[in-house]
Amino acid sequence: MNDGLAGVVAAETILSEVDGERGQLIIRGYRLDELAGKVSFEAATALLWQDLAPTPTTLETVSEALGQARLKVFQHLPVIIPRIAGLNPTEALRAALASLSDRDETPHHYLVSAAIPVFIAAIARIQQGETVIEPDKNLSQPADLLRMMRGKRASSDEEYALTAYLVTVMEHGMNASTFTARVIAATQAGIISSVVGALCALKGPLHGGAPGPVLDMLDAIGNRDNINNWIKVQLAEGKRLIGFGHRIYRVRDPRADILKNVVKRLSKTGNVRLIFAEEVEQAALQALKAHKPDRPLHTNVEFYTALVLDVLGFAREMFTPLFAMGRVIGWTAHIFEQARTGKLIRPESIYIGPRKE
Ligand code: ACO
Repeated sequence: MNDGLAGVVAAETILSEVDGERGQLIIRGYRLDELAGKVSFEAATALLWQDLAPTPTTLETVSEALGQARLKVFQHLPVIIPRIAGLNPTEALRAALASLSDRDETPHHYLVSAAIPVFIAAIARIQQGETVIEPDKNLSQPADLLRMMRGKRASSDEEYALTAYLVTVMEHGMNASTFTARVIAATQAGIISSVVGALCALKGPLHGGAPGPVLDMLDAIGNRDNINNWIKVQLAEGKRLIGFGHRIYRVRDPRADILKNVVKRLSKTGNVRLIFAEEVEQAALQALKAHKPDRPLHTNVEFYTALVLDVLGFAREMFTPLFAMGRVIGWTAHIFEQARTGKLIRPESIYIGPRKE
């Protein structure tokens, strides 16, 4: 038995390779740094869905179909809005996605992928007591999300930064939420159910729920004089430093530096939180090395995700839904891939309870 299925290979995939020893992420033949910050959200989506989705995956067809699907989902909002009142953004997104019908005629990979930005924008605006804004099908998903949230186009630097973030987190092997999506897809429950389940797995703080708590941690540390002591107390109490450690990476997560550069590019005049975060990161890495000499613990994607999304002006409760907006593309690609195998995922357990004999 392998605790947490560590080291267990659960599928063959053409989608990505996470090389934990070399700190490299390959997505459909490309290194992540050849995609993130270089290609549009729609181009990365077309690449991931290519040869797997049942509909054509040229850049034009994907862009057009995502735009159309955003408009379609927007029509559902009057029914969905009353169902999400009083929920936090991740719970609201979960409820909204679960409200989509298996009978909806829009191809479901488009439906779920387009629904997430429409729902995120609606959730944000409703929270601020503002009316929702209709999608613009001619914009990219990231540009349209920012416009629907703010009521006006974001700067090109901001659109670039959000796109680079979403492409960075789109696909990452057999992580917990992707595995969940594949387990559900393998029962033939459908794309919507698989994506709802994946979101539920994503929301935990050991996975996609981490970036909000990264900012909470920086706030709790407060100032540079407190960094070493705060970390020492945390580790002495057996608590984890959020934004550090990974199941696969034994070296630095390649996504961390890509996102750090995105924050730097966006903070031309200097970002006080970034400077502080870099100091915290260095102190944390040193402390973790001393704390767990046999277990390499390095910065993971969530540390700089928190700073990118913060500098873009998103509330920290929105971070997990934004992660889902990127990762849904990987989830749906894996759902298609899993469906092709036609095989139910059903591991075994060893009974260690009492027996009457
Ligand atoms: N801070 C302090 N100690 C840590 C940390 C950390 N961030 N991460 C792991 N450890 C310690 C554990 O306490 C454990 O010690 P033990 O053997 O004495 O019990 C040891 O290192 C191994 O930890 P595991 O939980 O077995 O490692 P696993 O591979 O299962 O966990 C995980 C990976 C969940 C990401 C872990 O490193 C963690 O909790 N990190 C903090 C939360 C976080 O940053 N989450 C985002 C992950 S990235 C993503 O999912 C998108």
